[in-house]
Amino acid sequence: MITSRELIKKYLEFFKSKGHVIVPSAPLIPEDDPSALFINSGMHPMARFFLEGRHPLGNRIADVQRCVRTDDIEEVGDATHHTFFEMLGNWSFGDYFKKESIRFSYEFLTKHLNIEPNRLWVTVFAGDEDAPRDDESAKYWQEAGIPKERIFYLGKKDNWWAVGETGPCGPDTEVFYDTAPGRPLKSDSCGPGCDSRFVEIWNNVFMVYDRQADGGLKELPAKNVDTGMGVERVTAVLQGKKDNYRTEVFWPVIEAWAKQSGRGYAADDKRLYRIMADHLRAAFFIIADGVIPSNVMQGYVLRRLIRRALRAGWQVGFGKRFYLPAFEYWYNFYLQTYPEIKECLEKAKQVVAGEEDKFSQTLKRGEKELCKFLNKQKDRVITGKEAFYFYETYGLPLEIVADVVKEMGGKIIERQKFNEAFKQHQQKSRTAAAGMFKGGLASHHPQAVRMHTATHLLQAALRQVLGGKVKQAGSKIDEEKLRFDFTFDRALTKEELRQVEDLVNQKIKEDLPVRWEVVEFEKAKRMGALAFFEHKYDEKVRVYTIGDFSIEVCGGPHVKSTSEVGVFKILKEKSSSAGVRRIYATVETN
Ligand code: SER
Repeated sequence: MITSRELIKKYLEFFKSKGHVIVPSAPLIPEDDPSALFINSGMHPMARFFLEGRHPLGNRIADVQRCVRTDDIEEVGDATHHTFFEMLGNWSFGDYFKKESIRFSYEFLTKHLNIEPNRLWVTVFAGDEDAPRDDESAKYWQEAGIPKERIFYLGKKDNWWAVGETGPCGPDTEVFYDTAPGRPLKSDSCGPGCDSRFVEIWNNVFMVYDRQADGGLKELPAKNVDTGMGVERVTAVLQGKKDNYRTEVFWPVIEAWAKQSGRGYAADDKRLYRIMADHLRAAFFIIADGVIPSNVMQGYVLRRLIRRALRAGWQVGFGKRFYLPAFEYWYNFYLQTYPEIKECLEKAKQVVAGEEDKFSQTLKRGEKELCKFLNKQKDRVITGKEAFYFYETYGLPLEIVADVVKEMGGKIIERQKFNEAFKQHQQKSRTAAAGMFKGGLASHHPQAVRMHTATHLLQAALRQVLGGKVKQAGSKIDEEKLRFDFTFDRALTKEELRQVEDLVNQKIKEDLPVRWEVVEFEKAKRMGALAFFEHKYDEKVRVYTIGDFSIEVCGGPHVKSTSEVGVFKILKEKSSSAGVRRIYATVETN
């Protein structure tokens, strides 16, 4: 039986033998894509290299990438959905194309994973106004050994992959594993992509286009290949399991819980165990990559994952800290694949314990009030806006409200109203906290303008010294000093503060030009501009650049070149709130 770690090993060895350079997984927090909270695929950290036309380490690359997708967080609880998952991938940057890619896949699946050839079915792109029908791929599959009858042509929904709304994309061909070989199809047209007896195991994308903001397609500088294979799913397939949670990735954790509860993996508890296992594993990796629970961005996703897992555990009947053995298990399980988690076990335990203490106090009250409320409603229907009240007042994330509603046989309607209210709430609290466009700036006092440019330099310097995890969380400027809040999980050392201060002063000395242009917000994001009040921006925004050191979406005003800023001095660094640091600084002019 092949385990998930063996699958990874075999995969990377195979592609190494085919001339690929094996690169480590990128962290879960995108380093150069402000439009996404998490890395969502093996391809995601590669997107920029497709745009640039080459990868710095070679034109054949392979890796195993840790990923998080939270679009269907509420689906988690069935046998196959996950928020965190691992993805194997191999890439060609303008090197091999369809023919070799398909040959590699077929060879690896049949010779190295020993999958019987008659279990393999494939789909290829049927063609539309964007790209032609992919007869070429179909031909190569046939040459490799897949008969015509097991090749299906499908449309964009199935056979097209894009990294996001804009950016690299292209037609793909997918490989499916038949769990019931030899059985006739339900109907001639119902093959892979239609009948769940076929499980998708590999996706080979032919990345040749770059989707523009206006929807048009531009050709990428080279013809590329991007493939992705989900580790959890393929492991289950290879082990003949329909339930991913039955593989060694989760099972020892769940089995121990089932034993502890005394009820086994009973039908009633199954969904809860899966939620616990999935969300806690995701939380472990998100924390390992430097995030802590909060009410914004990645921190908010982490908070939701932890709270939902905790609540599920409490429903099973577990007491405090029930997740500690699970963390130990995954830590040992993943350490070899991701050596970067080495120092993270204690931290994960502490962060979740801290959140647990906070949450256990508020949850009981919230749930009681929510039940009371639902009992008074006709058919136990609650609107998104009402659900938001329970978030705002009791800290119940939407998924938990949804869980309670589901358990009581009710329904949430107008869900999008929750998100709208949530955004408004964040905007209000941030605007109040930041107060950035009031006072100093509105008066355009020259000292405040210098301070404002210094704030941009400070943010860029912090990110250079401390890494891309640093994000603006607030800012306030007056004529005497600037205050800058940013996400970071510990105090800065003296040495770091000195480096940041020196770097800002160096950039002031370099007398860099400060320029702005007006672009579409989507374009600004693609340019890598840092943005703060994301939801508040108009379609077109002003982007300020300082040399090639800083790029931010901002209303201005700023000085014309950095030498006007004066001498930058950090006055103080302290904690602002959990996971947020605050720096006071000033600029002095002669
Ligand atoms: N990018 C494609 C996917 O995520 C293949 O790697 O499926």
